[in-house]
Amino acid sequence: MNVRALAAKAIFDVLEKGISLSVALPDKQQYLDSGKDKALMAEICYGVMRQLPQLDKCVSDCLEKPFKGKQRIVYQLLLVGCYQLYFTRIPAHAAISETAEACRQLKFDGLVKVVNGVLRNIQRNEMPLNTDIETLRYNTPAWFIKRLQQAYPEQWQDIIEQSHQRPPMWLRNNQQLHRREAYIATLAQHNIDASEGPSPNAILLDSPKDVNALPGFMDGAASVQDGAAQWAATLLAPQNGELILDACAAPGGKTCHIIEQAPQANVIAVDFDEKRLVRVQQNLDRLNLKAQVIHGDAANIDLWWQGEKFDRILLDAPCSATGVIRRHPDIKWLRKNKDIEELAILQQQIFDHCWQWLKPGGTLLYATCSILPEENSQQVTQFLARTPDAQLVPISQQSNAQDIGWQILPGQDNMDGFYYARLVKAQ
Ligand SMILES: C[S@@+](CC[C@H](N)C(=O)[O-])C[C@H]1O[C@@H](n2cnc3c(N)ncnc32)[C@H](O)[C@@H]1O
Repeated sequence: MNVRALAAKAIFDVLEKGISLSVALPDKQQYLDSGKDKALMAEICYGVMRQLPQLDKCVSDCLEKPFKGKQRIVYQLLLVGCYQLYFTRIPAHAAISETAEACRQLKFDGLVKVVNGVLRNIQRNEMPLNTDIETLRYNTPAWFIKRLQQAYPEQWQDIIEQSHQRPPMWLRNNQQLHRREAYIATLAQHNIDASEGPSPNAILLDSPKDVNALPGFMDGAASVQDGAAQWAATLLAPQNGELILDACAAPGGKTCHIIEQAPQANVIAVDFDEKRLVRVQQNLDRLNLKAQVIHGDAANIDLWWQGEKFDRILLDAPCSATGVIRRHPDIKWLRKNKDIEELAILQQQIFDHCWQWLKPGGTLLYATCSILPEENSQQVTQFLARTPDAQLVPISQQSNAQDIGWQILPGQDNMDGFYYARLVKAQ
């Protein structure tokens, strides 16, 4: 199958079956041989997710009646065609003929003419950019725009703008192997330009690279991790000899960083999702690090842990992931408004339970990749109100010492949107 047919199938999986693009894309890319085709397919799928409402409008305006049932895949294919016409440099005749060929490959020969006709029509039309409908203008669901407007009356447009940018690639230098300056120099020798990020081991690449092109990557020289996520281990400040719980660990980026920072700490990495836990072990193996990896529920620690209480706990809670839309634009369409309240309840349960397993004097770092206060500052404010032995310790990077935790917004210092709150338990 050609790139367009496979792209339509991946988009179908996301929009019709609710599968995340990070799963659907590689699942279909495996049928392509060339790296160039794989890159084009990724560009089209990510692009369609970013611009979905506008593409939807263009396509549906050109259709006499909507496609239903099995024919929906042809609708996704038209989104793919429309994206190429408006947002890529692919010559229109090639975009249209390849997309029509994809329709044949998807076994909808009877609709090839329709696909051709609709795309030719779109080619003649202007992209509907100037519109009063917010969802269309911002390519963002109405419920999310509303929540952003409430939470960030001054910044919401900027947040949406940043959430549509292509994210940079960040590396985490492996401090066990070399200093950050030394690895940046090694990168430069391989013609890879990079600079230091704000947290101690963060390296920002000038342009994204395939990990196989990074010197020493397979031997653990560095890991791919956004600059915002790299603050977790720094703020947790793990010490050698301590017992540390990473309560929601998969795929293990932060677990590995904690051990790089404190190799003699006893780290317990737990996750509810058995499949994702496999990736924790793979990451540990590549970096030659050791942790106890446990399949368990962070809201029921007694079921899988009979040992002593923890000196430090990282609670990187399940969340809406609204801070990382620039990396995962499908989140805009997979996440629903009602999820936010449900997630806040889940976060509260895990938060309260983990706290019981923290030693007196111990530190718990609460983190999310969300930008919504319901999951962040409000969550922590409510926790503090019902937990008399918890004290919030301000984070020096916060712009205002009175804030409840540190909210990083997408694009700030080139980082993803993230939230941290550091809490200490009374002795
Ligand atoms: C934000 S991700 C963690 C990312 C990870 N800390 C990292 O840096 O690679 C949240 C994780 O929480 C896990 N999770 C959700 N509910 C859980 C629960 N009740 N107990 C343990 N893990 C849970 C999910 O499976 C998911 O892997």
